[in-house]
Amino acid sequence: MYKALRGMNDILPGVSRIWQDVEKNAISVLRQFGYSEIRTPVMEEKGLFVKSVGGETDIVTKEMFSFRDRGERDVVLRPEGTAPIVRAYLEANLHKTDPFQKFYYIEPMFRSERPQAGRLRQFHQIGAEVIGSLNPVVDAEIILLLAAILDKNGIKDYTIRLNNLGCHDDKIRLSGALKAQLSDKEVLLCDDCKKRLQKNPLRVLDCKKDSCRNIARSALKSIDFLCENCKNHFAGVKECLKGTSAEKKCVDDPYIVRGLDYYTSTVFEVSHPALGAQDAIGAGGRYDNLVKDMGGPALGAVGFALGVERMLMARSKDTAVFKGSATVYVATIGEKAAKEGFKITNELRIAGIECNMNYEGSSLKSQMRDADKLGSVLTIIIGDDELAKGEIVLRDMRTKEQISAKFTDMLKTVNEKLKTYSL
Ligand code: HAM
Repeated sequence: MYKALRGMNDILPGVSRIWQDVEKNAISVLRQFGYSEIRTPVMEEKGLFVKSVGGETDIVTKEMFSFRDRGERDVVLRPEGTAPIVRAYLEANLHKTDPFQKFYYIEPMFRSERPQAGRLRQFHQIGAEVIGSLNPVVDAEIILLLAAILDKNGIKDYTIRLNNLGCHDDKIRLSGALKAQLSDKEVLLCDDCKKRLQKNPLRVLDCKKDSCRNIARSALKSIDFLCENCKNHFAGVKECLKGTSAEKKCVDDPYIVRGLDYYTSTVFEVSHPALGAQDAIGAGGRYDNLVKDMGGPALGAVGFALGVERMLMARSKDTAVFKGSATVYVATIGEKAAKEGFKITNELRIAGIECNMNYEGSSLKSQMRDADKLGSVLTIIIGDDELAKGEIVLRDMRTKEQISAKFTDMLKTVNEKLKTYSL
């Protein structure tokens, strides 16, 4: 028997319903904030990520699903969404019509990591990107948007860890100072970090090994690298967040450096107790040089991506798990009633009401159990008596009260009853 590839999961019925809810909630918030959907191909040229995410990062050196296509091109399954969106933005010349654009995406990403809880090889991100502004108010909007999506999905116990990495020059200054300080301790670093120290010392700060990270963190403490402009920008972001619902969720964390090279200035990660210490539910920040580095004009940009699988892990801790998928359940006794029930089910569905019934002639008791399991708020019951009278019995699952209604009044009666529920 074939099995799904390691780290790549099927999303089965029941669970897919929860995904739809999470995505629907996210889309409604994204629209409220004025973001438009963008969809890019699953495959891209490898060079796109080498140039943007960085040739020395874990994603590029170890984690991309990369291969030669039939035309001898090096292609990869996209490991993240930001670089493809900048590519699409420039390719479609969107900067020429209106440089300021707000995008969102809900898409699968691929990284060949060692699979474990919350770490997959095919995972899904809900992301947002704003291109065309250096204004700190846009950083604040992005953070508020991220918080609103989590809130709307009932995820409560999260923390947004904020930092400022500095501009291009600040990062060079930080990198040099870090290299100087870590050189003395090189023997204590892992083999990967020894290489990182030569090529990109900042990456030692997000090594997966605690020992390397701790050495780099203690070195970082004594380095003052932020220019006045970046300090003011960081203060500006916090000023914009003041008094908002997300302010309480934000804490400063000087150790947030992010594992992708395109970041400058504001960076953040969102942690949640349902996930381990190193795994974030989402993350993002500014990438003010990326549009220019990819051949476009100099334009500021900021964005984030939330991991959907990790949102679900947090959600199941914070909220009751979704139970049902039928607002109205049609329970029937006998073959003739089943035929009438089938017609009624169809009529309700066409009228836009989520409706389900059992086709297997199961006992009334087991159908009522189904109705409960599916979270139905009303159950229609039809047996021989009802058929003879041309009526249905309508049971309110909350109050257990039952009323009768003529077949001809069925839709009207169901709608009236449903109005008493705030669905
Ligand atoms: P990232 O930190 O690499 O950033 O990924 C963002 C989120 O995707 C993570 O916080 C996590 O929730 C989820 N994620 C990453 N890898 C995995 C995995 N192997 N399994 C499950 N979930 C995972 C980015 O991708 C940036 N493009 C975010 C961004 C957008 N920055 C600016 N704009």
